Amino acid sequence: MPTNSIDSLLRETRRFAPAEDFSSNSVTPPDIYDRAAEDRVGFWADTARELLHWHSPFTETLDWSNPPFAKWFADGSINVAYNCLDRHVIAGNGDRVALYWEGENGDTARITYAELTGEVKKAANLLTSLGVQQGDRVAIYLPVIPEAVIAMLAVARIGAVHSVVFGGFSSESLRSRIDDASAKLVITADGGWRKGKVFPLKAAVDGALANGTSTVEHVLVVQRGHNDVEWTEGRDLWWHDEIVAMDADHEAQGFEAENPLFILYTSGTTGKPKGILHTSGGYLTQVAFTHKHVFDLHPETDVYWCTADVGWITGHSYVVYGPLANGATQVLYEGTPDTPHQGRWWEIVQKYGVTIFYTAPTAIRSFMKIGRQIPQQFDLSSLRLLGSVGEPINPEAWIWYRDIIGGGETPIVDTWWQTETGAIMISALPGLTTLKPGSAQVPIPGIKIDILGEDGTRVDPPHGGLLVVSEPWPSMLRGIWNDPDRFIETYWSKFSTPEKYKYFAGDGAHVDTDGDIVLLGRVDDVMNVSGHRLSTQEIESALVSHPIVAEAAVVGAEDEATGQAVVAFVIIKSNQQDAQTATEASALLRQHVSEQIGAIARPRQVFIVAELPKTRSGKIMRRLLQDVAEGREIGDTTTLADTSVMQIISDKLK
Ligand code: WT7
Repeated sequence: MPTNSIDSLLRETRRFAPAEDFSSNSVTPPDIYDRAAEDRVGFWADTARELLHWHSPFTETLDWSNPPFAKWFADGSINVAYNCLDRHVIAGNGDRVALYWEGENGDTARITYAELTGEVKKAANLLTSLGVQQGDRVAIYLPVIPEAVIAMLAVARIGAVHSVVFGGFSSESLRSRIDDASAKLVITADGGWRKGKVFPLKAAVDGALANGTSTVEHVLVVQRGHNDVEWTEGRDLWWHDEIVAMDADHEAQGFEAENPLFILYTSGTTGKPKGILHTSGGYLTQVAFTHKHVFDLHPETDVYWCTADVGWITGHSYVVYGPLANGATQVLYEGTPDTPHQGRWWEIVQKYGVTIFYTAPTAIRSFMKIGRQIPQQFDLSSLRLLGSVGEPINPEAWIWYRDIIGGGETPIVDTWWQTETGAIMISALPGLTTLKPGSAQVPIPGIKIDILGEDGTRVDPPHGGLLVVSEPWPSMLRGIWNDPDRFIETYWSKFSTPEKYKYFAGDGAHVDTDGDIVLLGRVDDVMNVSGHRLSTQEIESALVSHPIVAEAAVVGAEDEATGQAVVAFVIIKSNQQDAQTATEASALLRQHVSEQIGAIARPRQVFIVAELPKTRSGKIMRRLLQDVAEGREIGDTTTLADTSVMQIISDKLK
């Protein structure tokens, strides 16, 4: 990865102390770390009471009597949507803009908190009229349009559970997610805009439901692309036809704090994607807290923009729940950064006067590559704070981001977290922390992080180790949908003892001599492509599902633009080898992976090889394949069953 080598980071000496006027206007009190350290659990209880409206108050903060199954604020009741909507209107802020929506094709919408509340109430009534009840699962497969936010909040409002599936995922991926969660309803659109074209979504839903065995009773279709769709009478309903008939009144009821809020699927080391389960009170507490303090949010004056799609955890926590719980005004953008021109994002920043901007290093690197002349055509002076998420940001990109986008003045918060953690876990607080490029720096108040060696003992700076969260936190995942064993095995078996449960994150990290945490990337077979998680095994399974493939091995190889890129090595079945050339086979298989999983998983390269490097026990040595994929000298091959294999592979690829 073009990320962080320990050596170069140790040589990183640049420091950026908070500017005087930033600090003095910050929403964060200087004693926040001390308060959290004095009484960690009490700190979260205070935060939950201070930032959220409880339908009925909780008396117990944390129940950790049955680890790793945590309960936070369990005897309290809350309505997540009420916290994101009604209470702002009741407080007199109904006229504040909640969403400035910008469609890729130039369509726009300006939606106030009062309007958004009204829309969500109608949508909640619509869901109820379709038989959706507390605890039922609703799959959402939409572009980044206001209805995506409305749908999520409407599901939350009635205590049901959403499972948002990123619109770039294939029909196959959608099907497996619908089936795993036994969804009752799917909310989709005819299509959405991307790269100047309409991409169909309804057709993928039709494909996912084609076998007729699904639990889905209805498909609600938002009209966005105006592309042709097929219609299944009785099952399919147009959102706009249904919503007009709905009552605009809907009273939000309180649900217990541990009522499931959503499932979000993410790739793991093995097998099919895991349905990460998040619940209500603890999740909302930590996303609201981090959104407020990490982004120093002043809801009356800030215009916030997080570029993530709502189909990822960043979109859940920092487009929908965090900003809306805090009453923020934000930009929501449907499309790609370079449509219709390379300055689209910066034009949007200028148009809306964006003050806080949150994006991924992969985007920054691609802008660096295009050059500063594009952002410099726009007035970006409204920006006062920048954020980064998804993968380590290398110091060079960090400095470019600050200088070119941030006018050489804005603080940058590098935020480490995961789908599983629900909310930001490690980040500077911009009003307090002296920033250091290339490091996510410090756990947020109330979070306990350790870096351990393989044997579970703490490693001392400057040595590297494995990142663990050593105390339960409010927005932690509550499990994997339908698979408690996998939950325990994946996250809690490596370092836990019966006396002390510790969450294993799957990331390598290192603490420098100042005590700052530097993330070093995944230590498992999970790749990070443009800040998105992909499993090598999942792509291998997709490849071997093609009839011409005998065997496949996938590695994540360093890539300048995307961080890592998918590189596959494939053995073609002997009876298929003459059917097409290697170039044809390779193109065919790239397309196949895209259809099976989604375009984000399409391999950068598929190499057709005669053998794969294996140990005597038959294990594929991906490390060696990674050497080839990254153009390095091939490492130690002595444990291979056949030591000549790597030579043959690398000769052929040259
Ligand atoms: C993995 C989680 C959290 C939202 C986006 C990704 C990597 C995430 C950082 C960062 C270094 C980071 C980790 C983590 N990661 N943020 N600031 N610095 N690495 O969510 O798909 O669940 O992926 O992304 O490897 O484990 P996700």
